[in-house]
Amino acid sequence: MRKGLITFLLLTVVVLGFAVHNVWTLLMLLFTDGQLDAILKAELPAPNSVAINERPQLIPKIIHQTYVNDSIPTHWLGPQKSCLDLHPDYEYKLWTDKKAREFIAAEYPWFLETFDGYPYPIQRADAIRYFVLHHFGGIYIDLDDGCNRSLDPLLAYPAWVRRTKPTGISNDAMGAVPRHPFFLKAIDSLPGYNRKWFLPYITVMASTGPLYLSIIWRHYLNSSPSGDDRVRILFPEEYNSHSWSFFTHHLGNSWHRNDVKLIFWMGQHWVFLTLIGFTLGFSLLFCIYHTCIKQKQSSHSKSRFSYSRIPFYRRVSGKDIELNDRHEV
Ligand SMILES: *[C@@H]1O[C@H](CO)[C@@H](O)[C@H](O)[C@H]1NC(C)=O
Repeated sequence: MRKGLITFLLLTVVVLGFAVHNVWTLLMLLFTDGQLDAILKAELPAPNSVAINERPQLIPKIIHQTYVNDSIPTHWLGPQKSCLDLHPDYEYKLWTDKKAREFIAAEYPWFLETFDGYPYPIQRADAIRYFVLHHFGGIYIDLDDGCNRSLDPLLAYPAWVRRTKPTGISNDAMGAVPRHPFFLKAIDSLPGYNRKWFLPYITVMASTGPLYLSIIWRHYLNSSPSGDDRVRILFPEEYNSHSWSFFTHHLGNSWHRNDVKLIFWMGQHWVFLTLIGFTLGFSLLFCIYHTCIKQKQSSHSKSRFSYSRIPFYRRVSGKDIELNDRHEV
């Protein structure tokens, strides 16, 4: 084999290995549907069934929500009220920025520096929910999610989250007993994932948001949790078509801007975008191979000088490729 080809193959293996190593968990996530941990509709009592009271109650009856301060915007008062009305016997905790910081300072001081250092407030809103679930247990619900029926049947599972399509899990509604190992892992891993990416939205998603929690979930599954350590999964579509849905979704005003829409689209299509990235990467490698290595082997008559510039090439016949240097065109 030619030396150039070997170099090229080695380079490809290194680049590919590096890329796959970095996105391995994401790739694994594509093949993780959580079906084995699904909370199936068939195992749940109907809304208003007396059988609900016969089920074990493991998760404490606490609803956690977060907002900047106590003045919840009017468009979220409806969903908030729907959850409060259906759960009169639950304790209600609204985590304002001030309360959240005090709580972290008092109970998880090792995290305070990371917590204060987050550049985006939404990162603190993401992080605090994992900590309060770890500390108190209970059910966390986003302010833009309303309740459609009593959450009592879900108290029977030590931990549960909601599945998202096409992959991963959401952090918008979750329940757990205090000190559940999954949420322990979720809080312990936060400092290590506190990295900046090129777009704010990706930074938020991958450092504290749903993508972060999905990656932690994928890692957590590697330890084959069993019994009470399992994280059970709600598949929203299973319930929606039967009006057994636990939650309803209400859009808040803050998500209507176009840049946010674009970023949401990117978030929803990250699988597709990752594939595009790989394709572009491979095309680039292929181009480098063709222009720098193949050309070198086939056109010895050209001076060394012409290879030191960015080469442009065009096909002149079925076999021959002519190298053009832009400075000479
Ligand atoms: C609560 O936060 C909102 C949004 O930042 C702000 O508009 C409002 O003035 C705040 N209310 C109080 C009482 O501080």
